[in-house]
Parts: sequence; C-alpha cells; structure tokens
Amino acid sequence: MTFQLVGSGPQIYEEVMVPLWFGRWAEELVDLLSPQASESVLDVACGTGVTTRLAKKRVGTGGRVDGLDINAPMLAKAKELADGLDVNWIESDVCDSGLPPETYDVIMSQHGYHYFPDKPGALREFWRLLAPGGRMAFSIWDGHSPYTNAICAAVESHISPEIAKKQRSQRETPSADDLREQVRSAGFSDVSIRRQELMIEVPLASEFVPLHLGSMPIAGAFIALSEEAQTALVEDVANALSGYAKGARLVYPDAVHVAIGHK
Ligand SMILES: C[S@@+](CC[C@H](N)C(=O)[O-])C[C@H]1O[C@@H](n2cnc3c(N)ncnc32)[C@H](O)[C@@H]1O
Repeated sequence: MTFQLVGSGPQIYEEVMVPLWFGRWAEELVDLLSPQASESVLDVACGTGVTTRLAKKRVGTGGRVDGLDINAPMLAKAKELADGLDVNWIESDVCDSGLPPETYDVIMSQHGYHYFPDKPGALREFWRLLAPGGRMAFSIWDGHSPYTNAICAAVESHISPEIAKKQRSQRETPSADDLREQVRSAGFSDVSIRRQELMIEVPLASEFVPLHLGSMPIAGAFIALSEEAQTALVEDVANALSGYAKGARLVYPDAVHVAIGHK
C-alpha cells in the first residue's frame, strides 16, 4: 500500500486533514516522547511536518530535528511551512536513508508505519539510527472509524470494489498484540502500546467528503465520477452517519495505537 499525494493533495492534506485528523494527535505524540533542549530527533514519514515543527520548537536552536519522507510534494509543503525553523528535510524511503548509525535520541513517526512496504526493515532502521538510551514512538490508526466505514461502503457502491479495497486498506492496521510483537522483534525494550481515543469533528458529509476524497490517493477515481454519482456517494455517507450529525458537524469517535520502544 502506498500513500502518494500529488498536485494539490499536500495542500488539502495540510489545510484540511491535519487540523481535523492528524494534527489532533500530534501534540500527544510529541508530549509522550518529550524531546529535550539540544536532543536530536528524526521524524519519519513527516509528511507536511506537523510533528516535525512541534519537535523543533521543543529542542530549540541547540537541538537537531530532521524530517524524512519519500514524497517530494509533501516535503516541499513541509519546507514552506517550516519557514524560519532550522529543520533538515530528507527525501528518502524509510529503509534507505543512508544516515549514520546511532544518530538520534528520539525517533517518531505519525501515521507512517502502516504505509511502509517493509515494516520489519523500517523498525530495524529505527533501531539502527537510535542512539543507545534513545526512545522511539510511532502512531497508527486503530482500525476503522464510523466515518471511514461509511466512506468505504459508499466508494464500493459508487466507484468499485477494487478502489474500495484500496481505501479500506488505509485502516487495516495490526492489533495491539501484533504491534507489540513487531516492535519487540526489532530489538526494542520496555515496549508498550497505548490506545488514544478522541472525538473527531468534521464538517457535514456534503462539504467534507469531496475534500477528503480529493486529498486521498484515490482522488482520481472520485473526480472521474459524474456529478450525479459524486452526489449519490456523498448522500450515502450522510445517511450512514446521520446519527453522528450535531448541528453543522459530524462528531464521531476515532482512535490510534501508539507503539513505544527504547534502546
Ligand atoms: C498519512 S501521511 C502522515 C504524514 C505526517 N506524519 C502527519 O502526521 O501528518 C503518511 C506519510 O508517509 C509517507 N511515506 C509513505 N511511505 C513511506 C516510506 N516508505 N518512506 C518514507 N515515507 C513514507 C508518505 O509520503 C506520507 O507523507
């Protein structure tokens, strides 16, 4: 599975998805790792840099923060947003950075792990890059939310089962027990998995669904639908989520697992 955004994808991602979804957990991930002044931090799969910027503000001018991502348009957006912050941006696959061993006190990754084609290789790389005594945490979704279930059902009805399968796979994440085992197998000690649930608020389906699908890797398939088919897809989502409508918002629970390990 890949997560490759092109065109205006990174901009919609930053302006819409980060404030409504990804950014909601960013402070908690950075708080959990608590990077200290003058520590060195690597943010893997940094995307548009929501967690990278937070980490840089914590470590200050004496610390080093690097943001690594495979997607050049996401990194370009990250660079633009970090204007004035001294962050080193690295365009690379997680497993292929060529960075020297034991470089970082802290490694973090928000919603990246699920997309890495070689997950054991990525965790071995985290281990290799972490200095002795260092700490690592990454977050991924804990399965589907009511919203993502509704979207996937509507995509299956109005686009195709193949595209729905691709969209569903964004949330087909490992259980807490599997995650713990994967992190332990890479050599980390004091491994723990935390579940963090939040109530998410997004605009009503008519406004939010086109923005959301327009920012996703399946954007092309949604945009290629006729106007009538797009409207029917959005209506299906609105009907499935009618129980979560509160005024002009949809309010529903969503959760991540945060995997934590030490070297
Ligand atoms: C859902 S976004 C998360 C971005 C950011 N961490 C955040 O919280 O907003 C997933 C990111 O993983 C990156 N990514 C996917 N596969 C990767 C790989 N093999 N190596 C490095 N980055 C990767 C994508 O380019 C994308 O920016």
